[in-house]
Amino acid sequence: MKPMARQPLRLLLAAVAAAAMLSFLLLLAPPPDAFLSAFLSPSSPYAHRPKLLFLLAGQSNMAGRGALARPLPPPYLPHPRLLRLAASRRWVPAAPPLHADIDTHKTCGLGPAMPFAHRLLLLLHSDEVLGLVPCAVGGTRIWMWARGQPLYEAAVARARAAVADGGGDIGAVLWFQGESDTIELDDARSYGAKMERLVADLRADLHLPNLLVIQVGLASGEGNYTDIVREAQKNINIPNVLLVDAMGLPLRDDQLHLSTEAQLQLGNMLAEAYLKFNSSRGSML
Ligand SMILES: *[C@@H]1O[C@H](CO)[C@@H](O)[C@H](O)[C@H]1NC(C)=O
Ligand SMILES: *[C@@H]1O[C@H](CO)[C@@H](O)[C@H](O)[C@H]1NC(C)=O
Repeated sequence: MKPMARQPLRLLLAAVAAAAMLSFLLLLAPPPDAFLSAFLSPSSPYAHRPKLLFLLAGQSNMAGRGALARPLPPPYLPHPRLLRLAASRRWVPAAPPLHADIDTHKTCGLGPAMPFAHRLLLLLHSDEVLGLVPCAVGGTRIWMWARGQPLYEAAVARARAAVADGGGDIGAVLWFQGESDTIELDDARSYGAKMERLVADLRADLHLPNLLVIQVGLASGEGNYTDIVREAQKNINIPNVLLVDAMGLPLRDDQLHLSTEAQLQLGNMLAEAYLKFNSSRGSML
C-alpha cells in the first residue's frame, strides 16, 4: 500500500475506536439514567428565565406511582414553559416520571405535580415559566427529612440551586409524606412535632419565613397508625401551612399508592389550594 492511501485508513480506524470508546463509556457510566438524560435531554430555552418554583418533597405518592398510561393524559404532557430541575441541576423540559433521576431505587410513575402545574399554566401570563424541583424519595420516614439528614440537605441544596442567579421565587413546597410513619407507634405519635420542626428549619435555611407549605393528608398508610398521622397533619397550626386531604381518592391494588386518576385529581386540588392562598395573600399586600 502506498503511504498516501494509509492516511484515510488510519482516520477511519481512529473514528471506529472513538465510537467504540464512547459507547463503552455510555454503558459503564453510573447512574445510567442521569448520565444519559444529561446527554439526551437538551436544556430548555427557558432555563435562564426567572421561574415560579415548586419544591416537590415526601415519599412515593409525591414521586408518583400512578401507571404510565399511554397515551398520557393531557395534564402529563410537556409544555414549553414547564421545566424541571434535573438531578444534574440543569433545567430541562418537565416530562413524567419527574422523579426518575431522584427516586432512583424504585420505578417511578405519575404523580400530582404535572397536573398541578398545567392547572397553573392556564392562569399564568404567557411569559411566565414554572419550575418543578423534585426531591421526593419512596419509603422515607419523616426523621430522614430532619435537618442534617441527607434528604433534607439535598432538598435545601436543590432549592438554593433553583433560585440561584435570578432563577425565580419559590411559590410553595408540596409535601406528601407520612405513609411510612404509620408502622411504628412512636413514629406516628411524634409526626406532628417533626413536621413542625421541618417547616421551621426549611424556612430558616431558605431565608423564607413565610414559605407556603401544602401538605397532603394521607390517603393510605403502610401500618396501622394512619389515623394518628392524619390527626397530626390536621393539627399543625402554623401560618401558611395548608392541608389538602387525599383521603378517599382511588388507590392502586396495593392499597397504598394513588392511581393515575387520583393523582390527576390531587394535582388539581393542590392547584386550587395554591391559587386560593395566593389570591388572599395578594389582596393582603
Ligand atoms: C396491624 O395490626 C394487625 C392486627 O393487630 C397486625 O396483624 C399487623 O401485623 C399490624 N401491621 C403492622 C404493619 O404492624
Ligand atoms: C398570585 O397573586 C398575585 C397578586 O394577586 C398575582 O399577581 C399573581 O399572578 C398570582 N400568581 C398566580 C400563580 O396565580
